[in-house]
Amino acid sequence: MFSGILITKDDGGYQARGQGIDESLLPPGDVLVRVSHSTVNYKDALAITGKGPVVRKFPMVPGVDLVGQVEQSSHAAFKEGDWVLLNGWGVGEVHWGGLAQRARLSGDWLIPLPAGFSPRQAMSIGTAGYTAMLCVLALERHGIQPGDGEIVITGAAGGVGSVAIAILSRLGYSVVAVTGRTDEADYLLGLGAKEVLPRAQFAEPGKPLGRALGRRGGRWQPYLANLCATTRYGGVVTACGLAAGMDFPSTVAPFILRGVTLVGIDSVMRPKADRIEAWSRLATDLDLQKLVPSATRWL
Ligand SMILES: NC(=O)c1ccc[n+]([C@@H]2O[C@H](COP(=O)([O-])OP(=O)(O)OC[C@H]3O[C@@H](n4cnc5c(N)ncnc54)[C@H](OP(=O)(O)O)[C@@H]3O)[C@@H](O)[C@H]2O)c1
Repeated sequence: MFSGILITKDDGGYQARGQGIDESLLPPGDVLVRVSHSTVNYKDALAITGKGPVVRKFPMVPGVDLVGQVEQSSHAAFKEGDWVLLNGWGVGEVHWGGLAQRARLSGDWLIPLPAGFSPRQAMSIGTAGYTAMLCVLALERHGIQPGDGEIVITGAAGGVGSVAIAILSRLGYSVVAVTGRTDEADYLLGLGAKEVLPRAQFAEPGKPLGRALGRRGGRWQPYLANLCATTRYGGVVTACGLAAGMDFPSTVAPFILRGVTLVGIDSVMRPKADRIEAWSRLATDLDLQKLVPSATRWL
């Protein structure tokens, strides 16, 4: 038996409960991991509360990421005792996830715990941090450099936003943090933002093309639509989240008249090489001391 959170949906309704789970119930996989840490990500909160259609198979152990030590492996890349890290691949959605003391997984989904991170540190930034780095890498791949103008980050006080601010400011970019929680301004300035703006300023429907403000990067609508409309000529916007909703009430104007690029960011199905690159860049370009640790410890 091991402890974990189990989500069930039956005649009794939708329930998430911490409980003992029999190891024989673990789903198939070629690597058994003793989970040491996991993160409570946005998606995990939706899964646990049932507020979003994240879980697609019941019963389900939530947790879209984990770090742990291999207990058994028939996968060529991993052996007993190795420390491994997992983000995504439908874990916590269609395959039992990280919010439990054991996980049985495909070795193809795992990467070695990156050098420079303790298990706790890796999961204190979790999938949010890894996704923030995927956004930064996308800006770099599209040629955006620190001198090109401001980067606007929405959802700034959240997991993805906080890590993105810390990375980009350390790399020398000028970061404007947009938040609904202006009482978090000191935290955001401490992470490296040079300015904090209230979310409400970006919430009203705007013109198809607004006054160009900078080479801005945003993450969701109506903020996403407004940021695309006010991004400087040749600028890049990365989009990974939907906290404000799924709609995208924009026009093609920013793309065809200003050459703006909108880059979609998916962390779940990313190829292994991208994951390894993102985590190795997190090890060098993120000052962990700036972030509030939020890892969940499973003892
Ligand atoms: N594409 C992917 O692979 C991927 C991976 C990870 C996360 N995500 C998504 O990215 C988003 C952020 O994740 P996270 O881990 O940073 O979550 P989080 O820590 O919960 O942060 C979400 C932030 O969104 C802002 N927010 C909340 N409600 C909002 C609303 N109604 N309108 C506008 N902003 C609102 C808040 O920021 P302020 O308080 O600063 O305003 C909040 O802190 C989520 O939608 C998540 O599902 C996607």
